Amino acid sequence: MHLTLRQLKVFESVARNLGYTRAAEELHLTQPAVSMQIKQLEDSVGLPLFEKMGKKIYLTEAGRELYGYSSSISRQLDEVDEIIESLKGLERGRLAISVASTANSFATRLLAAFSKDHPGVTVSLDVTNRRGLLNQLANNEADLVIMGRPPRELDLATEAFMDNPLVVIAPKGHPLGKERDIPLARLQEETFVVRELGSGTRNAMERFFTEQGIRLTTGMEMTSNEAIKQAVEAGLGLGIVSIHTLELEMETRRICVLDAENFPILRHWYVVHRRGKRLSPAAQAFKDYVLAEGDKIMPTLMTFGNPRIETSEVEK
Ligand code: PGA
Repeated sequence: MHLTLRQLKVFESVARNLGYTRAAEELHLTQPAVSMQIKQLEDSVGLPLFEKMGKKIYLTEAGRELYGYSSSISRQLDEVDEIIESLKGLERGRLAISVASTANSFATRLLAAFSKDHPGVTVSLDVTNRRGLLNQLANNEADLVIMGRPPRELDLATEAFMDNPLVVIAPKGHPLGKERDIPLARLQEETFVVRELGSGTRNAMERFFTEQGIRLTTGMEMTSNEAIKQAVEAGLGLGIVSIHTLELEMETRRICVLDAENFPILRHWYVVHRRGKRLSPAAQAFKDYVLAEGDKIMPTLMTFGNPRIETSEVEK
């Protein structure tokens, strides 16, 4: 049997995702290229590795056997890769960072400042929502992750480095804009545009209102904070976003933060990786940098004119 590492890598991805399209996306290949690699692998194995039932594909028995080996080979290859990278040190390392969509507003700044001091390090930045980050952590795909509230189910090393207050936003001139201590029951009369399921912001918002015994009326659902802000500005409803996404809007005063009872929802940003992961010098240096400088990268929240937001209570 003659098989190549490339075929094994493609196979591992198709088998893990149980899909050619997702594997193609993950590996940055076209779908025909993925199918071709699998076909060649099946030819050299001499047995089919996948079977198709309806629209879904499943591993055959041979596929399951091969998957066990290909996963451990690919983990070992990753380890070799990490060791080689670490030998290159900080001069020429590679750094794969994944951040929550909401953290993108400041993560690029952190990376820009870090890259200035370490110009030899090649950085890749992946931006996805909380659900995407949980998958990446489960599959050990990123060196470091920046996210809100790390999951308890995975064995992770987590360190908080900055507050992440979630606030209620309204379009400029909204009647609630001038009110103080708006009762949560009053918010029930409004419609909210919300982030997609799988977003950390959405989870936190739902948890908060459930705890407070409030049922919100939700309208449109959107997959980015930018879309939420534009929808709020356009009068489609109120929104709940991290204050870190609002810098520009607050400067241009197109959106106002409402002074609602029990707000902001207090969250934190964490830098996270799998416990026991051998961090490369580049990853370790970036982690140290985030822990030392992370909370200085955003203007202090007092600049948003809402003193109640200045707080550092621990996230529940
Ligand atoms: P998200 O943010 O809403 O962009 O997924 C992640 C988080 O706040 O945990």
